[in-house]
Amino acid sequence: MKMKAVVAAIALVAALAAPLLLLHTRFPAPAAERPELPAQQAAEILLPLPKPKSGVVLEEALLNRRSVREWAPEPLELEDLALLLWAAQGVTEFAGWYRRTAPSAGATYPLEVYVVVGERGVRNGTSYLEAGVYKYNPLRHSLTLVARGDRRRELWEAALRQDWVRDAPASIVICAVYERTTSRYGERGYRYVHMEAGHAGQNIYLQAAALGLGTVAVGAFDDEALAKAIGAQPNEAPLYVFPVGVPRERYRLTFEGLRELYEATRRG
Ligand SMILES: Cc1cc2nc3c(=O)[nH]c(=O)nc-3n(C[C@H](O)[C@H](O)[C@H](O)COP(=O)(O)O)c2cc1C
Repeated sequence: MKMKAVVAAIALVAALAAPLLLLHTRFPAPAAERPELPAQQAAEILLPLPKPKSGVVLEEALLNRRSVREWAPEPLELEDLALLLWAAQGVTEFAGWYRRTAPSAGATYPLEVYVVVGERGVRNGTSYLEAGVYKYNPLRHSLTLVARGDRRRELWEAALRQDWVRDAPASIVICAVYERTTSRYGERGYRYVHMEAGHAGQNIYLQAAALGLGTVAVGAFDDEALAKAIGAQPNEAPLYVFPVGVPRERYRLTFEGLRELYEATRRG
């Protein structure tokens, strides 16, 4: 009799909890995604909020996206860096959790974004952002200084001495916390994380093209040295480096030029 009562109680609790569990499994809000925002930190820099700036339509950005490896001797504007970061991982909706500019498998959001800022690399009005490594907080659209000093040389060494990494005024580094996605999808989660980094990367490319800036996806680097250069957390694996800057030369094609290009390819 007593046993029956215990079984009935367990069944009742399970019945009540099941919808909640289901909801949780379908829409897991990882710790970093929960609505309660973390307390503002002292060294936090609130970035200029995104607004339409380029006036470039998507088709033009696609047409003029190119990998850029040579930079004009000019800094990045903080407003532009803010747009690039927002394009990579910024927030666009609150639907019980924060949705972002880039899609994410199961909304598990495994990516963490850092910026390596060189000396006088990023201008903010009449002053410059302190050289160092910053971490992007997508929920607050802010940067937090995590390491002081110009780390571009360490980044360049880690990136197999690709000069465009050393010479760019700043580099965006995309890292992954795999467990956020693999804890839900197992081995397949690795594939999803890499796809997601590609989505974020393409957003950076297109936003850069729209702003008349340049970038290049850099995947060739020493993982450990790169993690060390940016002071990544032990569970953050660097996947991609995007040096960004003002291009020495801009790639430009008109839609008329594109038509000629296709006419040539169709002639064979
Ligand atoms: C996954 C991946 C890794 C890449 N790694 C590097 C790299 O380490 N260094 C580099 O200079 N370019 C790198 N690139 C950029 C390619 O070289 C470039 O996209 C390609 O030459 C085509 O040129 P486009 O981007 O201008 O169309 C990488 C691109 C991808 C997609």
